[in-house]
Order: sequence, then structure tokens, then C-alpha cells
Amino acid sequence: MSSPFDFDRPARYAVMGNPIRHSLSPRIHALFAEQTGERLEYLAILVEPGGFRQAVDQFVAEGGRGINVTVPFKREAYELADACSERARRAGAVNTLVVEGGGLLRGDNTDGVGLVRDLRQNLGWELEGRELLLVGAGGAARGVLGPLLQALPRRVVVANRTPDTAELLAQEFADLGPVSGCGLPELDGERFDLVVHATSAGLRGEVPELPAGLEMAGAACYDLQYGAGPTPFLRWARERGAARLADGLGMLVEQAAESFWLWRQVRPETAPVLETLRAELGAGGP
Ligand code: ATR
Repeated sequence: MSSPFDFDRPARYAVMGNPIRHSLSPRIHALFAEQTGERLEYLAILVEPGGFRQAVDQFVAEGGRGINVTVPFKREAYELADACSERARRAGAVNTLVVEGGGLLRGDNTDGVGLVRDLRQNLGWELEGRELLLVGAGGAARGVLGPLLQALPRRVVVANRTPDTAELLAQEFADLGPVSGCGLPELDGERFDLVVHATSAGLRGEVPELPAGLEMAGAACYDLQYGAGPTPFLRWARERGAARLADGLGMLVEQAAESFWLWRQVRPETAPVLETLRAELGAGGP
């Protein structure tokens, strides 16, 4: 058996979560490695509730160099990290752990920057000076709010089924730019350039109850979730006349590329990887 000090062995990385079977991260990082010629292996590790710290310790003891963290362990990873980036601190969550000398764990969060890169660079959707609606105020919304505000929109409204959560989230990020929080009915009569959907309703095939008076015609709509075809939210937005639609597959690839950069100091090209994944997912996306 090889030891952590076996220098011939490729550097090891992993994604940890529960469930993990359908994670696309191993495929994405394998494509990045192939493209850049970096020698690494990347595993998917299923972690049982309560077992996150032990799984990380074991992976590091075996020579692991970096970990992607997904649902439901991002908060735990934030608490476990020895040091965190400012964007991870803001998000209150870590999706990337970098194992440094002596086994020290540096935590970062690449989700928000992944979203903004997908919006601006892949889709060409301008954010500066625009009116943004962020639907949802849970972990996913918190992870992207900072980078969205740093893209200098005219304003961001965070709207949530539970209005208090949206208001508290907005208050926490108010120093980064013009952001306010409200409940869903208060969106009646409003219109936005860009609507970002960040609730977990789609996991159950549902769509948040947005008021009929929210003007969707002409808006660009982005769903953090993705699938083989349009998500429930994107189908809803299309029926309401949204002009442009995109799901979160591009964000997934971009956040992975940023992790790869943190680990390897090499930046993979994301466009061909996104194209491959889209083809593999099937139906061609939104
Ligand atoms: P995540 O980390 O994926 O955001 P979360 O922290 O559990 O998960 O947050 C889920 C988000 O989806 C919340 O904003 C939640 O609204 P509440 O704060 O009111 O619970 C939202 N959400 C989930 N199901 C929803 C539904 N059917 N309609 C509207 N919002 C929903």
C-alpha cells in the first residue's frame, strides 16, 4: 500500500457530502486534470451525519491535499477550518478546503464567484447598475449574496417565504452595497433585470409562491439548481415571459474551476467542460 509520502502517487482530492452518488464534481475535476495535464485523483466520499470531522481527518492523514464540501456539511467545514477567506466568512460556509503544511486546513467558498463568473463571462449578463432579485435566504442565497453585491448592481432585493430571514440576511450584507429584504408578496408590482432563484423548492418539484404582479417579461432568470432539462423555476419563468434563462450547471463548473485554481494554481478552461457536461446530462438544458 502506498504511504502519504509516496511522491509517485498522484495528489488526492475529494468531494464529501450526503448524498454524493450523483455529484458531478469527480467528472468535472477529471476533465480539468485531463485538459491541464495535472496529475491528480479525485474521489467522491459519502459521509454519514456526525462523521464529517473524522472523514476529513482520515483523508488528510492519508495524504489528501484538498476537499470540496457539499450539502449538508458546508457549515461544519467552516467551523472545522483553521483559517478562512473573507468570502467564506461572509458566506458562513466552506465549499473548498485546502490542506496546507502540517495538515492545517484553509477554508474558502467559491460558490459566489462561480455564479458571478457564469453570469458575466459565460452568459454575458451584465450586473453593474442592474436591478437584482435574489429569491431565497438560506445557505445557497447567503453563499452568493456577497459576490453579487461586489459586482456593483444598482440594488439587490432578497425575497423569502419567511420575510425575517431575508431582512436579517440583507442587514448582514448591507455594508457591501444596496440590499434589502422582504417577503414574497411584497414583490407585487416590481420588476428586475435579473432574478436569481436560490430556494430549495425545486428539489420537491415546487416553485416559490411569487405574486402574479411580479413583472417577469424581459427579465433574465438564473436558477442555482440544474438538471437534464429546465428546472421548475425556469419553466415557470419561461411561461411568464422571461427573456433569458440559465440553470446552475455553469456555476457548478465555475466554482470547481476556482477550487482547482486554489489547489493547483492552474486555471482550467471551463467552456469545453461545460459543453461536455451539458451533453452528458442529456436534454440540452434550458
Ligand atoms: P439552502 O442551503 O439550499 O438554501 P436552506 O438553508 O434550507 O437550504 O434554505 C432553503 C431556502 O429555500 C429558504 O430560503 C426557504 O425559505 P424559508 O426560509 O421560508 O424556509 C426556501 N424554500 C424552500 N422551500 C420553499 C418553497 N416551497 N417555497 C418558497 N421558499 C422555499
